[in-house]
Amino acid sequence: MSLAPPPSREPLLAVSDLAIDLAGETVQRGLIHDVSFTVAPGESVALIGESGCGKTMTGMAVLGLLPRGFTVSSGSIRLGGRDLLACSERELRSVRGRSLGAIFQEPMSSLDPTMRVGDQIAEARRLHLGESRKVARARAEELLDRVGIADAARRLDSYPHELSGGMQQRVMIASAIACDPDLVLADEPTTALDVTIQAEILELLRELRREQGIAVLLVTHDLGVVADFCDRVVVMYAGTVVERAGVDELFADPAHPYTRALLDAVPQTGHPRTLLPVIQGRVPVAGRFPAGCRFEPRCPHGGDERCLAPQHETALPGARSVRCARAAAGEPVTRPAVPA
Ligand SMILES: Nc1ncnc2c1ncn2[C@@H]1O[C@H](COP(=O)(O)OP(=O)(O)OP(=O)(O)O)[C@@H](O)[C@H]1O
Ligand code: SF4
Ligand SMILES: [Mg+2]
Repeated sequence: MSLAPPPSREPLLAVSDLAIDLAGETVQRGLIHDVSFTVAPGESVALIGESGCGKTMTGMAVLGLLPRGFTVSSGSIRLGGRDLLACSERELRSVRGRSLGAIFQEPMSSLDPTMRVGDQIAEARRLHLGESRKVARARAEELLDRVGIADAARRLDSYPHELSGGMQQRVMIASAIACDPDLVLADEPTTALDVTIQAEILELLRELRREQGIAVLLVTHDLGVVADFCDRVVVMYAGTVVERAGVDELFADPAHPYTRALLDAVPQTGHPRTLLPVIQGRVPVAGRFPAGCRFEPRCPHGGDERCLAPQHETALPGARSVRCARAAAGEPVTRPAVPA
C-alpha cells in the first residue's frame, strides 16, 4: 500500500539543478550534474543506480557533509523552504540535529564509541530541544524501546561496541529520529545486516513513517526494497539523474534504457533459470564522462547522432522525467540483449 501524500503538498526537500565539483590539481567539474528531485512530507523516495553513480555524494550534499575538496558549484537544496546552501555550519548542525536525521550502512561511522548510547541520544534532545538531563534520558529510553531494543533502561548505559550490529543499527535509527525530524536520509541502512534483521529494520522504518509521518530518502541497491518501501524513484547514472517516476510506473514501464537494464538484471522468482542480461562495461570514472549522453558507451541504442549530444531532462506525462532523446521522442527502449 502506498503511503504517498497527496501530490498537491509542497515538497519538504527540493534539490534543484545540483552540481558538485572536486578541487585538485585540476578541478573535476560536473561529478554531480544537473540533479533535481523532491521529497514530499511523509513520502519515501529511493535513490538508485550502480556503484559510483553519485547517490551518497548527493545525500552528503543534502546533509551539508561533503568530503573535503568537493564543492557545490551550482543549484539549490531547500528543506522546509529553507535554503541549506546559504546556512552557516552552525545552522546546518542545528538542521541536521533537528529536522534531518541520517542513517548510514555502518553504524559505527555515526555513533561515538566513547559515549554511552543513552547519553548520545539524550544529548541531541538536550542540545536541540532544550530538555533537562532527566527528561532527555527518559526520552532516550523510550526511543531505544521504540526501535526494538530489549531492556532499554539497562542498554542506555551500554557503549556501542557492547552491542550487536543489528542493535547498533537500531541505536543509530533512535539517534536519527531523536528530535522528531521531518526527513531521514538512509544510505544503504540494511546492506551490512543479515536478511532477518534487514526485514526488521525496514519494518521499523515503515512504522516510523506511518506513525510519525517521517519522510525517507532511501539510497539502496535493492530493487525489492524499493518496490516494497518507496513511493517514487530517482535513478542516477554517472553523477546525474536519468529518470524520475512513481514506483509503480517505473517498474511497469521504465523509460530510460539504463533503468530498463537495471530492472532486467534482477532475477525474477518463479521464472526458469536463464542467463540474465548484464549491462556491459562500467560506470565511467568520475570526471571522465562522455561528452554526450553519459550512458552512450553502454547503451544498446548508442551511436545515434542525438546520443552524442549532452542529454537534458524531459518531462513525461504523470510527473515523470527522462534524460534520453530517444525515450523523450517516444521511441522504444528495448532491453540490452546481452546475456552474461
Ligand atoms: N572521497 C572521495 N574522493 C574522490 N572521489 C570520490 C570520493 N568519494 C566518492 N568519490 C567518487 O564520486 C563518485 C560518486 O560516488 P558515490 O560514493 O556518491 O557513489 P554511490 O552511488 O554512492 O556508490 P555506492 O553504491 O558504491 O555507494 C564516484 O565516482 C566516486 O569514485
Ligand atoms: S540518449 Fe541515446 S545513448 Fe543515451 S540513453 Fe538514450 S538512447 Fe541510449
Ligand atoms: Mg554510496
